[in-house]
Amino acid sequence: MNSKTLVAYFTKGGASEEYAKVIGEMLTANGLVVETCNLAHDIPDVAAFDTVVLGTGVRISRVYRRWKKVLKQKALSSKHLFMFLSSGTAIEEPDKAVEKFLRPLVEQYGLKPKSLVSFPGKIPEKWAKLDGQKETMKPDKAKAWAQEIAHQVQSK
Ligand SMILES: Cc1cc2nc3c(=O)[nH]c(=O)nc-3n(C[C@H](O)[C@H](O)[C@H](O)COP(=O)(O)O)c2cc1C
Repeated sequence: MNSKTLVAYFTKGGASEEYAKVIGEMLTANGLVVETCNLAHDIPDVAAFDTVVLGTGVRISRVYRRWKKVLKQKALSSKHLFMFLSSGTAIEEPDKAVEKFLRPLVEQYGLKPKSLVSFPGKIPEKWAKLDGQKETMKPDKAKAWAQEIAHQVQSK
């Protein structure tokens, strides 16, 4: 199946962009037709896609406001929807990050995602020095998740 897929993200620190790229590459390698979109530049109409992957970061307990513009689109309810978060909480407690930051939005907007995940975000340099933690990114997790997405979409 040549499913048309949107991978859209909003980032401030760069983590969500890195994960979106890894995911887009993996989906493409699995034969999907992928369009990757930085929501800072454009808010695409999701109606044009079969599968939608949405990623955001979180700061001060809030996901980015511009990212939520996509969540408001009515057409999202008929898409294969997958959502990811990049966050500091996810470094130690990925499930907690999902429940705290993504689940309330899924309920608020009445979404039916096939999968919700969180990936470890970037720690700003000045904070990283405090606890010695510098390299937190786990692109392999995003790759594995993208592989699952490809399987789900292609088995439809
Ligand atoms: C000012 C600031 C506030 C943050 N607040 C939170 C927070 O409340 N909860 C959390 O889990 N991570 C927090 N983080 C970590 C970010 O989620 C992490 O940097 C992530 O990479 C952000 O995604 P992005 O790089 O795609 O913008 C914060 C980071 C910064 C710089």
